[in-house]
Amino acid sequence: MSRNLLDVATKHEWHNIRWFRRMAPVYDIVEIFARHIREKVVSDSDLSPGARVLDMACGTGSQSIAFAKYGFSVVGVDLSPDMLARAKKKIRKGYDVTFLCQDASSIPYADSHFDLATVSFGLHDMPEGIGVAVLREMRRVTKPDGKIVIVDYDVPQNSLPAFLGHAVAKTWESKYYDRFLEVGLQHYLGEAELSAQEKENFIFANIQKVICTNRKRA
Ligand SMILES: C[S@@+](CC[C@H](N)C(=O)[O-])C[C@H]1O[C@@H](n2cnc3c(N)ncnc32)[C@H](O)[C@@H]1O
Repeated sequence: MSRNLLDVATKHEWHNIRWFRRMAPVYDIVEIFARHIREKVVSDSDLSPGARVLDMACGTGSQSIAFAKYGFSVVGVDLSPDMLARAKKKIRKGYDVTFLCQDASSIPYADSHFDLATVSFGLHDMPEGIGVAVLREMRRVTKPDGKIVIVDYDVPQNSLPAFLGHAVAKTWESKYYDRFLEVGLQHYLGEAELSAQEKENFIFANIQKVICTNRKRA
């Protein structure tokens, strides 16, 4: 990581821990609209039993738990101890899930360790350089031809849902959200040398799920 990005990461960590300390107690309200997206991410993953799944910026762990429920071996990584404390409470007997508190742009796993990596509603909550570094880290630790699944905001073509979606999201989103919408997920994917094979929209196209294949060499 460059010196400049290290400074950005340090400031971001300071901000993030405080921001999500306030958000953690109420965060799971998002499950009212996100629950069906979690299930869709799992069913589209097409994984074999026992597969290893990485959930970056896992927050309160809803996506991690959605995978663990089906018997997958899951690692969730997040910077916020408060979000992770809630995630840990969701672990049930028999779930194979580990939660790590650290920056997702550099994680202690070997190259190609995971069958699939995912990040949901995480990229818009970090500086652009860190978001790109997280996607690159996902490529590094995911097997060649493994899936990389990203769920985050999109901008609907239709201006009414775009206006309403943006107005609602602005009431709670962090300071990085505007920049994420301005450059768009495609820009992040390009910087990380990923390309979307499949895209699906939810909630009047305010949310997108993108599936990429990890085209690195073994
Ligand atoms: C909106 S929450 C999304 C949580 C979860 N993925 C979900 O789908 O509900 C964004 C999360 O990103 C985490 N985050 C932000 N920057 C991070 C980083 N550099 N490394 C790890 N986690 C990070 C925050 O702590 C927060 O829990």
